[in-house]
Amino acid sequence: MKVETTQFKEVTAMQDEVDMQAYWMPYTPNRYFRKNPKIMVSAKGVYYTDDHGRKLLDGASGLWTSPLGHGDPRIIEAIQRQYHTMDYVPAFQMASKETFRLANRIAQYAPNGLGKVFFVNSGSEAVDTALKIALAYHRAKGEASRIRMIGRERAYHGGCVGGISVGGIPTNRKMFGAIMMPGVDHLPHTLNLSQMAFSRGQPTWGAHLADDLERLVLLHDASNIAAVILEPVQGSTGVIVPPLGYLEKIREICTKHGILLIFDEVITGFGRLAANFGADRFGVKPDMITFAKAITNGVIPMGGVIVRDDIYETITGIGGQEQLIEFFHGYTYSGHPLATAAAHACLDIFETDDIMARTKVLDQVLGDAVHSLKGIPGIIDIRNCGVSAAFDLEPIAGKPGLRGMQILESCIEHGILVRITSDTIAMGPPFVASSEEVQSLVEIFSKVVKKAF
Ligand SMILES: Cc1ncc(COP(=O)(O)O)c(C=O)c1O
Repeated sequence: MKVETTQFKEVTAMQDEVDMQAYWMPYTPNRYFRKNPKIMVSAKGVYYTDDHGRKLLDGASGLWTSPLGHGDPRIIEAIQRQYHTMDYVPAFQMASKETFRLANRIAQYAPNGLGKVFFVNSGSEAVDTALKIALAYHRAKGEASRIRMIGRERAYHGGCVGGISVGGIPTNRKMFGAIMMPGVDHLPHTLNLSQMAFSRGQPTWGAHLADDLERLVLLHDASNIAAVILEPVQGSTGVIVPPLGYLEKIREICTKHGILLIFDEVITGFGRLAANFGADRFGVKPDMITFAKAITNGVIPMGGVIVRDDIYETITGIGGQEQLIEFFHGYTYSGHPLATAAAHACLDIFETDDIMARTKVLDQVLGDAVHSLKGIPGIIDIRNCGVSAAFDLEPIAGKPGLRGMQILESCIEHGILVRITSDTIAMGPPFVASSEEVQSLVEIFSKVVKKAF
């Protein structure tokens, strides 16, 4: 099958002057962008079109958001139908039937025993919500001293205050010490190129790094620790796959000490690891799972926390008189009807098109393709898990991030979109991409890298 790239000149989008006065872009070098803009004008299937009329194979599923590709009419129709029926319902004290039904459906995707769903609008809100639930739970159990949180180096848990506190990306934290949560420790990250470079799937080295959790328990005493939060695979800092046995050990230590384990599955949830959740992929059951992104295919913001039943029972159980609110938390748009409709449509597509079977095929295809690039000068590591992969590239001396930016721009010139974090390049193609498209994505990337070094 011939794969569409920039050779396709029938696209007629024209480059217009864009007035860039007012928009302050998130997580973007704004000054650089104004000189080197990347403006997308449309998206259909697994392709974006930019304002040069270039057709770009979406190698990153938007921002890990769009595993079903772009513009699926079934999602659009579901949203339109809901819009004409009921465009909004107050999230507090009221709900639509469809939001209840969605929570039931999402719980079916989650591991047994995680049967309650709290809806929010983003991954960041999901993380802060999970941290609040952890505190409320311990307090309701009469263990109010359990207030410390444990995150991990290199973790990304969103941009809200809780998320940057447990997150482990220095640039996201360094200016904000004054508002960060107190009482947070971090486990070491598990990436060590001298031990695991070019591992396919889970590295065999590194399970012992989980023992650091025992050290923190000794230091603070378990009676002061509320929760550990981890991404099963660290997505934003470059598809860092957990060493064999690592998550199991973390689970064991948490259980031993009554510490809650939260898996932040905002990227890894709903198929990215060729399983419902990372919890299923690695066979480790957390106490809470955060999700966002793929649940609506990125079409309308939605996120949430899936919670162990007894955590919900414990918190609601101390609510006092029944007319009183048990957990003082929520958002105006929690369980928004349009997001709910989009989520139902996405789960329908997952089920009717057997998307999960597709992810298992692409797991293999992407893994084979990316690891075939080993040995190309400039590539210092290749990692993969499920339908996600990453390459670490040799940086340009003294200019962190410039290599990654140049590679992104060259990728765009050659007709593909990838995700960059400094000099790490990540790929997470849509699950509806064909095997040939995924192979072509990696092939074009290899040409770009060969040109750059
Ligand atoms: C693991 C994880 N948690 C939280 C977030 C934040 O999600 P959002 O940008 O929707 O707030 C992200 C975003 O990429 C993420 O990868």
